[in-house]
Amino acid sequence: MMRAGERIVGPLRRHYNRRTRFNHRGISMPHNQGSRSIGRTSGPSVQAYNATAKWLHWLIVLMVLAQFTIAILMPDVGPNTVPGVLLDRHFSLGIVILVVMAVRLVYRWRHPVPLDMADSPAWERWTARAVHLAFYFILLVGPFLGWASASAHKLPVKLFGVIALPDIAAPRARWALTAGDIHTLMMWLLLALIVLHAAAALYHHFSRHDGVLRRMLPARSE
Ligand code: HEM
Ligand code: HEM
Repeated sequence: MMRAGERIVGPLRRHYNRRTRFNHRGISMPHNQGSRSIGRTSGPSVQAYNATAKWLHWLIVLMVLAQFTIAILMPDVGPNTVPGVLLDRHFSLGIVILVVMAVRLVYRWRHPVPLDMADSPAWERWTARAVHLAFYFILLVGPFLGWASASAHKLPVKLFGVIALPDIAAPRARWALTAGDIHTLMMWLLLALIVLHAAAALYHHFSRHDGVLRRMLPARSE
């Protein structure tokens, strides 16, 4: 009998590990039991995220890409910057991303994802986890730094021109001006990580021919 955390090695390894899930402690579970996080599968042996997790993932992707487009087009923020449409859109969409990301984090806690890339080396699995963690961190902390910078530059944050949010820093507050610089740096780092993350997903799909990309894509009917 297999003990908790033990994985099969030898000729049966690839077959068994693909059909076996490991929870966050590395405990193997039969294919159809355990966390509700595993929804429909997109192939006989491919584990997948459930529909809500996929929706949240691709919604964030669309919003973050739109946000970078706005950030590139909007005017530089400095002592004499006046409020304008693009800055308003940047602030509003940024707050929406923050809220959706918070929902996603809570959802992730309530539905742990015991997926693993059984055939990948440990460094790859750890890198993937570190990048996912960095996404959560940057998209949950970074918006507050941008908000502080907006307040320090006396730029009001009004959600789509309707709901006025409070200032979170005094005008010209030094810490908040520094927070703005960190916000900018963090967000360009985020873009670099997104390129790495997308390249890794495409590499798995087209070069490794495994199920890593498929488990985040809409399920196809057999
Ligand atoms: C959550 C997603 C967000 C992303 C991806 C993002 C991205 C960016 C990027 C790339 C820049 C640099 C633009 C440049 O180099 O010219 C920037 C600057 C800025 N963002 Fe954001 N942002 C986000 C959220 C927010 C939020 C929620 C606010 C305010 C409520 C905000 C306020 C600002 C401000 C004030 C600057 C100028 C910073 C400075 O130079 O002090 N951002 N943002
Ligand atoms: C704004 C851009 C993106 C962000 C912030 C992002 C974020 C994330 C996060 C946090 C996860 C971990 C799963 C979770 O916690 O729900 C994840 C998984 C995943 N993402 Fe993205 N992602 C982005 C773009 C993309 C793109 C462009 C692709 C495909 C080309 C992609 C493909 C995947 C795949 C295949 C997984 C599953 C990986 C696995 O199961 O180990 N992502 N993504």
